[in-house]
Amino acid sequence: MAALEPSEMSLASFPAMRMRRSRSSSWCRALVAETVLTPSDLIWPIFVIEGSGKAEPIASLPGVSRWSLDLVAERAREAGKLGIPCIALFPNTPAGLRTQDALEALNPDNLICRAIKAAKDAAPDVGVLTDVALDPYTSHGHDGIVDGKGYVLNDETSKLLVEQALVQSTAGADIVAPSDMMDGRVGSIRQALEREGHSNVRIMAYAAKYASAFYGPFREAVGSGGLLKGDKKSYQMDPANSDEAMREVALDIAEGADFVMVKPGLPYLDIVRRVKERFEIPLFAYQVSGEYAMIEAGAAAGAGDRDGLVLETLLAFKRAGCSGVLTYHAPLAARLLRDG
Ligand code: PBG
Repeated sequence: MAALEPSEMSLASFPAMRMRRSRSSSWCRALVAETVLTPSDLIWPIFVIEGSGKAEPIASLPGVSRWSLDLVAERAREAGKLGIPCIALFPNTPAGLRTQDALEALNPDNLICRAIKAAKDAAPDVGVLTDVALDPYTSHGHDGIVDGKGYVLNDETSKLLVEQALVQSTAGADIVAPSDMMDGRVGSIRQALEREGHSNVRIMAYAAKYASAFYGPFREAVGSGGLLKGDKKSYQMDPANSDEAMREVALDIAEGADFVMVKPGLPYLDIVRRVKERFEIPLFAYQVSGEYAMIEAGAAAGAGDRDGLVLETLLAFKRAGCSGVLTYHAPLAARLLRDG
């Protein structure tokens, strides 16, 4: 009989092989765990408002608030204490500053720029990631500039995104994250950052971002939802597509992205896995607002233990191949991981 190949040996039959042996004690489960989740895998998205001492609850995101700058500073310190390496800031721009041309996005003293400074002053060792897209600044809720028919113009938008990324970098952003899905913007932003002396500012490209029904609570949180005319299907990806995601990722890497992201998270783990197998680049997923709301609603309805749902879903991202996850559950997960 020919010698067994190693792969065949692992198929030794019962009772020589009992799969449950390695599961039968907790020390042994820990020893053979293929994937670990730690606080350093988490990026914490935080919503920002004007004012001071203000925490505004967000109805569709139970447990999440919009915070004024002083409280954003506190959140940055909290992230540091919990071992969360990076926070992601999203502004809720006052209604009066939202216009057709989104010019407030380029104001070096706008809410997001002041939030970046507040966070970096409070916790210099916590990374600050900022979204590059125009939706918190447009009166129509789209991520870019629209023409007379409501079509989002690519190259005109891209020019503004480059300026927006520079303004955020000058304010101290460590990672700029274009979430707009315009073609060519990663390359343009990279060139501009190099030219303007921001060569260490990283780009996390929302490379495969789908036109998803899971973004509703986020749009409420930043105040763009009620304004949005139509949908974002002419720039965000069709959930039917997977090969197209590979092309998006390849292009963003070629244009100079340091990290790539898949978004939403759990319904797109097949995309995460394909990207991981095909590209050698740090990969992130965004467990988006609708996913957070779904877990909270599920837990409240008795679908499962909330802490368990949170840690299991986050571990799933690691198992699928993510370096890290953007999640509104970041502080809860970090506490659970710390306290065992
Ligand atoms: C905006 C942006 C969105 C999210 C992150 N950046 C919403 C959208 O594209 O409409 C969604 C995040 C979430 O739902 O948690 N460019």
